[in-house]
Amino acid sequence: MVKASEIRQKYLKFFASRGHKIIPSAPLVPENDPTVLFTTAGMHPLVPYLLGQPHPLGKRLVDYQKCLRTDDIDEVGDTFHHTFFEMLGNWSLGDYFKKEAIAWSYEFLTQELNIDPDRLYVSCFAGDADAPKDKESAAIWASVGIPRDRIYFFGKKDNWWGPAGQTGPCGPDTEMYFDATQKPCGPNCQPGDNCGRFCEIWNDVFMQYNKTADGRFEKLPQPNVDTGMGLDRTTAVINGFDDGYLTDLWQPIIKSIEKTSGKKYAENKKAFRIIADHFRAATFVVTDGVLPSNKERGYILRRLIRRAALQLRNLDTNPSQSYVPVVDAVINLMKQYYPDINSPTPRQTIGSEITKFQTTLDRGLKEFKKVSAVDGKVAFDLFQTYGFPWELTVELALEKGQKINKLEFETEFKKHQDLSRTANKGVFKGGLQDHSDVTTKYHTVTHLLHAALRQILGTHVQQKGSNITGDRLRFDFSHPEKLTPDQVNQVENIINQKISEDIKVVKTEMPKSQALAEGALAFFPERYPDFASVYQIGNFSKELCGGPHVNSTGEIGRIKITKEESAGAGLRRIYATAVSKKNSPQA
Ligand code: ALA
Repeated sequence: MVKASEIRQKYLKFFASRGHKIIPSAPLVPENDPTVLFTTAGMHPLVPYLLGQPHPLGKRLVDYQKCLRTDDIDEVGDTFHHTFFEMLGNWSLGDYFKKEAIAWSYEFLTQELNIDPDRLYVSCFAGDADAPKDKESAAIWASVGIPRDRIYFFGKKDNWWGPAGQTGPCGPDTEMYFDATQKPCGPNCQPGDNCGRFCEIWNDVFMQYNKTADGRFEKLPQPNVDTGMGLDRTTAVINGFDDGYLTDLWQPIIKSIEKTSGKKYAENKKAFRIIADHFRAATFVVTDGVLPSNKERGYILRRLIRRAALQLRNLDTNPSQSYVPVVDAVINLMKQYYPDINSPTPRQTIGSEITKFQTTLDRGLKEFKKVSAVDGKVAFDLFQTYGFPWELTVELALEKGQKINKLEFETEFKKHQDLSRTANKGVFKGGLQDHSDVTTKYHTVTHLLHAALRQILGTHVQQKGSNITGDRLRFDFSHPEKLTPDQVNQVENIINQKISEDIKVVKTEMPKSQALAEGALAFFPERYPDFASVYQIGNFSKELCGGPHVNSTGEIGRIKITKEESAGAGLRRIYATAVSKKNSPQA
C-alpha cells in the first residue's frame, strides 16, 4: 500500500527540489479573509500574496494545508465525502506559469506516484466572456504525453476556480482525473460526469483575475499558479480503494471505533465514517481556537460533535466515554504533521460539549414524546432549546410516522439568525458610545494588545471579545493554554515599546473587501459596513474598526497587564490597565 505519509513527503521534496520553499499549514480559521468561516483550500492563506504582496519566502511555495468544507456535511457517511481534509499545493507567485506547472504535474503523477499514463485524463477551460478558451494548456498536455482524445474542454462550472470567499483571486483551471474503474458508464462516459469512473485528483489553477465586490473579473498585476491535490482522495485512488476509509489516513481511527464500541466497521460503515470524519474535523477545529456555540464557526463545531456523538449512541455506546479513544487516535495519527493538536484541549472541549448534549438530549426526548405533531417550527424549538440536531428530529418524527418540512425549519432558523444579527449590531453601537479620553486610549490598546499577542503566541490568536471601563480593559482571545509569566511580560513590553515610539494612528476609509484582502484584522467582519474605516498603527497593527482612537500611541502612557486567566475552553482573558508615567515602577 502507498502510504499518505509517503505521498506528503514526496510532494514536498519534488517541489522543494524545483525551487519551492516549504511553508507550514495555516490555521483552519482564516487570518486574511474573515468573509468565510474556514480555510477551504491551500491558497486561502495566500490570498494577499496572490494579489501581489511579496511573500517573505519568495515566489515558489509548497505545503500541505488543513482544510474544512462543510457544504456537504450531510453526504459524509459515503465512501469519499469528508469535512476536514488535507490539500497538497504548490504555488507560483508571478513566477512560472502553465508550461512548468503542467509538465511538473504530469511528471509527479507518472514518475513519483507511478500512475499509469493511460489512466490519466485532463480538462481545460472552454472559454467565455470573461476569459478565452485555454488552448495553450491543452497544447502543453499534448506535448507532455496526454493524447488529444483524453483532453476535454468544460465551462466555468467545471474549469474555473475561486475566489475562495466572495471576492479575490481566481482563474481558469486544468484538472487531472484518474480512471479508477476503467469501466465506461456508456458511450459518452467522460470526466466530470460523476458516474464513479473518473476521480479528480489534482487541479492547477491559473490565477490571473481578481473578482471584485461588484462581480467583475479584473486582471491581476501578476499571473499566478495555484494547485491543489486532495491527499485523502489521491491516497485512496492510487491504492485502488473504492472506499477512502481503507487508507492509512483513516484505519487507526476506524480501529479505535471498533475497539471502543466492540462493533465491526464492515457492518456499521455509515456510523463509523461519520464518527471518524467528524471527530477528526472537530479535533482540528478546536485546536484552532473555536468553541462550540450556536453561531457561525461554533455552530459548525457543535454540529460536528453532536452528529458524531449521536452515531456513538447508535452503536450502543455511552458517547461521553466512547469518544475518548477516537480523539486520541486522531491526535496520535496527526501530531507528527500538526504538532499543535497534541494537547488536552480537544478532548476537554469535545467531552464537555458531549455532556451538555446528553443532558439536553434526555430532556428533549421527554418533551418530544409530549408533542403530537412535529412541524418545522417544533423542530426549530427543539433545536433552539435542547440542541436537538435536525437529523435527530427527522429520525424521531419518522418513528412516529411523520415527515417534517425542512424549508419550514430553515425559515425559522433564518428568522432567528436575523434577530441575533440585529442584536449584535445594537451591542456594537452601544459598546462604542462612551467616547471619553480614557476609553479612547483603551480602545487603541486593544489593537496593540491584539497585534502583540499574535506576535508572541502565534497568528491563531483572535479577538473574541472586549470590554472597556474607565479604569481597565478586558480582552478575550483564542489560545489553548495559560500564558507563561514570560509571555505576559513580552506582550506588555511590546505594547509599551510601541507606545514609547509614539506611532501615528492612521485612519483610512476603504471598501471592506479591500481592507480584508490587504490583511486587516477584523473582529466580527459582518458588523462593518461595505465601506469601512481601517486603523493602522505603523507596520504593527491594521484593523477594521469603528474607532475612536488616539492620534498617536504616545498619548496612552504606559500600560500594565494585571491579570491573565481562562475565559472558557480554548479562550484566555487579559486585564490591562493604564499606569500614569509617574506611578509606573518602570518609568
Ligand atoms: N485552489 C484550488 C482547489 O482548491 C487548487 O482546487
